Amino acid sequence: MSNSSISVSAPSIFCLFCFFYIILLDAILTSLCAVLSVADCCQAKDQYIEQFKDTLNTTVAKSIAGFFVEPIQGVNGAVQYPKGFLKEVFKLVRDRGGVCIADEVQTGFGRLGSHFWGFQTHDVLPDIVTMAKGIGNGFPMAAVVTTSEIAKSLAKRLLHFNTFGGNPLACAIGSAVLEVIKEEKLQENSQEVGTYMLLKFAKLRDEFEIIGDVRGKGLMMGIEMVSDKTSRQPLPREEVNQIHEDCKQMGLLIGRGGIFSQTFRIAPSMCITKSEVDFAVEVFRSAIIQHMKRRDK
Ligand SMILES: Cc1ncc(COP(=O)(O)O)c(C=O)c1O
Repeated sequence: MSNSSISVSAPSIFCLFCFFYIILLDAILTSLCAVLSVADCCQAKDQYIEQFKDTLNTTVAKSIAGFFVEPIQGVNGAVQYPKGFLKEVFKLVRDRGGVCIADEVQTGFGRLGSHFWGFQTHDVLPDIVTMAKGIGNGFPMAAVVTTSEIAKSLAKRLLHFNTFGGNPLACAIGSAVLEVIKEEKLQENSQEVGTYMLLKFAKLRDEFEIIGDVRGKGLMMGIEMVSDKTSRQPLPREEVNQIHEDCKQMGLLIGRGGIFSQTFRIAPSMCITKSEVDFAVEVFRSAIIQHMKRRDK
């Protein structure tokens, strides 16, 4: 590992340059980047790479320790990177001596459907992967996986110690969770029901002026609320709060994220069924209709 103590985080990117949606077989309706006429040319990716290079050149030391990234940004509102962005970023980081760390706490264990790990969807191989949440299905548990070289370097320089590290009960639970994911085909369910859900919510985006974007992959989705589709300004927080509350009153619990708390985050249990999705979409639609009526008064 590098001796430098500085690590770099990815810019919080959102593809506002996008005028078109790419329809990918494995990730229908992701708002990743504008595909103009050349398949491998992505304006957004190029611009964000320039921004990333600027950060490297102006804000951090020449040699960097590492770079942390979530394959889809969770708390920021299910924000996805333009295609090819992470691959290029990993190279830039490694050129400066840094290691690349994928945070799979939200994206791992098959939630994204097409792949077991989120980093696989970017065709990159991290040096370190951190994981939690899905690893224990509610049991408090986490793990870090890395190369033997990095693991050995920890043993050489530090006393690396955890009170509960390698706890047999946690290990038994972790193994059981992996078996259930496989036996109950939960990754496949994330793919199938997740795509179904994305398409249903995308219809609402077409129906309502205040739903600015519906994005995500598998069972990790973001619904971004805007004042209107022209200005794309975030819907005021009080209005989003009201919609959120109405959903709760009708039996639908969803999360929030984004810099302005303007995005609803949906990441349900991976055993969710299509009829449960139908219920969620209907409740959400009713809450939006109620809101539009309040607005028009
Ligand atoms: C993406 C991500 N990384 C890391 C963490 C922290 O995980 P833990 O609470 O297991 O330390 C969280 C918690 O919400 C998270 O969402």
